[in-house]
Amino acid sequence: MEIEPIRWSNGTLLLLDQTRLPMEQVTVEIGRYQDAVEAISQMRVRGAPAIGVTAAYAMVLAAGQITANSGSVEKGEDRDEFLSRLRQAAEEIASARPTAVNLGWAVKKQLDLAESVTSTAQMGARLLQEAQRIHREDVAINRRMGGHGQELMPDGGAVLTHCNTGALATAGFGTALGVIRAGWESGKRFQVYNTETRPWLQGARLTSWEFQQLGIPSTLLVDSAAGMLLSQGKISCVITGADRIAANGDTANKIGTYTLAVLAKENGVPFYIAAPTSTIDASLSSGDEIEIEERPSHEVYHFQGIPTAPPGIEAVNPSFDVTPNRYISGIVTEMGVARPPYQESLMLAVGSANA
Ligand code: MRU
Repeated sequence: MEIEPIRWSNGTLLLLDQTRLPMEQVTVEIGRYQDAVEAISQMRVRGAPAIGVTAAYAMVLAAGQITANSGSVEKGEDRDEFLSRLRQAAEEIASARPTAVNLGWAVKKQLDLAESVTSTAQMGARLLQEAQRIHREDVAINRRMGGHGQELMPDGGAVLTHCNTGALATAGFGTALGVIRAGWESGKRFQVYNTETRPWLQGARLTSWEFQQLGIPSTLLVDSAAGMLLSQGKISCVITGADRIAANGDTANKIGTYTLAVLAKENGVPFYIAAPTSTIDASLSSGDEIEIEERPSHEVYHFQGIPTAPPGIEAVNPSFDVTPNRYISGIVTEMGVARPPYQESLMLAVGSANA
């Protein structure tokens, strides 16, 4: 059975609470956009494409709340008032987490649509149609990405991945994990290693669980063991997802990705990224311009309420890092595998995706 992290049913957004996995499978019901913002910032839903889809539905909820408060009268000033309140909600939704470009991308798409709809009475239905289209499209894009990326998977050998980039991090199928899955489904056989991914343990909790659901054997390692495995020649390639890719190919992804990429290069192992073209932010010329989310320090010295360091300790908690393009051997998108120089190959991919 396919994992469905995000569903929409009778005006309610249903999210599989990823803070509770794998111990419990709990679905949270969300009826207000403010609760969607909370779910994103508290990591109940996470992963760049998944928070984009959630944001698209959050805009539907916001439109519904505004209509419920003001009615859906057609006069020009009411439409202006409606749009101004929707813009305020959009700002709150888009700022729930700063690094993943998909969040702002989905909110902007919905806002542009709302601004093109003349009747406020039709606004909710049109936004819902668009959210459902973004939702469906994400799964289709991931499957296409898997089709292109599976060529990079070895037959024999081993693949290392980081964080969680599977169905849970998207609307379904996954990005980097989707490529691994597609490789496996094409009949290739290889060992899969996945990191724990401190401090939220997306790798240990979510990726291990997803591989179990898929019947793909995987081996868990602590983040700091990756260098040793790479230096021992145990890894054929590394593949991760991305939260934002600058026009030159510099890539922001889960903290620790940069370390893996440098270690891969040092040991002559190819390092790949898999992400949809919607993750490419062509407005940024390099990774220096990517805003990196700094999360609360208690996430480093507590795990699920249990202290893991002495009281009063200081901690730093950047949630993402930037891997410079020179460490990246290829970027898999739904349009194919982009190779350096990324300035050209990524723009080509974005251009043909939007054609
Ligand atoms: O903090 P998270 O769990 O949202 O971080 C997720 C990642 O870094 C993923 O690798 C990225 O979003 C790509 S997911 C398909």
